Amino acid sequence: MIDPKTLADRFPGDFVFGVATAAFQVEGASKADGRKPSIWDAFSNMPGRVHGRHNGDVACDHYNRLEEDLDLIASLGVAAYRFSIAWPRIVPEGTGPVNEKGLDFYDRLVDGLKARGIKAFATLYHWDLPLMLMGDGGWTARQTAYAFQRYARAVTARLGDRLDAVATFNEPWCSVWLSHLYGIHAPGERDMDAALHALHFTNLAHGLGVAAVRSERPSLPVGLVLNAHAIYPGSDSPADRAAAARAFDFHNGVFFGPVFKGEYPESFLAALGHRMPAIEPGDMETISQPLDWWGLNYYTPMRVSHDPADGAEFPATVPAPPVAEARTDIGWEVFAPALGDLVRRLNADYPLPPCYITENGACYNMGVEGGTVDDQPRLDYIADHLAVTAGLIAEGYPMRGYFAWSLMDNFEWAEGYRMRFGIVHVDYETQVRTVKKSGHWYAALAGEFPKGNHRAG
Ligand code: FCB
Repeated sequence: MIDPKTLADRFPGDFVFGVATAAFQVEGASKADGRKPSIWDAFSNMPGRVHGRHNGDVACDHYNRLEEDLDLIASLGVAAYRFSIAWPRIVPEGTGPVNEKGLDFYDRLVDGLKARGIKAFATLYHWDLPLMLMGDGGWTARQTAYAFQRYARAVTARLGDRLDAVATFNEPWCSVWLSHLYGIHAPGERDMDAALHALHFTNLAHGLGVAAVRSERPSLPVGLVLNAHAIYPGSDSPADRAAAARAFDFHNGVFFGPVFKGEYPESFLAALGHRMPAIEPGDMETISQPLDWWGLNYYTPMRVSHDPADGAEFPATVPAPPVAEARTDIGWEVFAPALGDLVRRLNADYPLPPCYITENGACYNMGVEGGTVDDQPRLDYIADHLAVTAGLIAEGYPMRGYFAWSLMDNFEWAEGYRMRFGIVHVDYETQVRTVKKSGHWYAALAGEFPKGNHRAG
């Protein structure tokens, strides 16, 4: 087992250790104080979409247990908390009136963090689009980007003075490709044309959101959280290497290109550009405003081979087998070196600002036995990925922080509550929280931290 003290010595004093959650996954209280449904409320209540037809009605009941959960975060000794703000609480109809009661909850959250000396990292969009916006096409409609801009401004006006950082979107790859092309996430669309519209309008909404945040609060560090994919060819053959290059453009380039270079990748445009919605004058400039930071969510590598099928749609790849034997309980290959390869490649290809690892962690479903949760594989996973991160810092990459996904077990989207990523266990019958072995270890690491720890003034 990696000793937390030895590992801590490899990080600079101001490195930020944190924990992360997202609104729909933990809050529950789905009808409280004026909240209206999101696309995930609708999706999780459709047969066959979410495991066991689980939903977000109660989740971890975090909305009603805020103070207790803030104490829990403080007890872990972390310097920062990454959470998301629920658009359907703030502008319940997507474009209608602002709901002050919804903002009140985040007001209490942010004040509670400040009172405990914990930094507040807010994400504006972690997938809970107000359902009423679906009537106009959701993310396939350009006006949704302007609705997002207005929501972003309302949040910043009320909370911006106490936030330490804000991200516009969490993992647009998921809300674009996974939600509109692969049909796994809400709204469950499976259509390339819909997905291409969602892609450009999400990118546009990011840019409009950056402008909205800065218009209210010029000094607030604003960024974007991307689940960049570490892509490896299934073999050394030229066909598989070309497949991996196409996959890089499709899974990474369509987000990193517009945001950090003001352009979509050439190969992507050549294959699919004619099916994109109109890119209006000024769009690419809006999307590519310089960011103060970016967030990387990393869990597992992506291995691809060339898809030889006739007429296979770009990027024309099929999955290739994993190289590492270790898998987490959700089936994802465990391969820490990919985190290093990914950060090096992205920094070589794009002019990136400083980076926070905004999510990293592992699904292991062991429960409480004798009052404790022995989740050694999760502890090892986090330690190994932190060791890679420390190596990147030694190489000179601007890695500024690490957020464990997740603070606690929660609603794991299409997998419902059966997949557990928490460093704290949640008993969904009683809502009792039990810090797991990995959580105690992580607290020991954060607590060793000489200057990054908020307690060491
Ligand atoms: C990421 C999501 C996060 C969580 C983890 C396991 O894709 O951002 O909400 O579900 O995966």
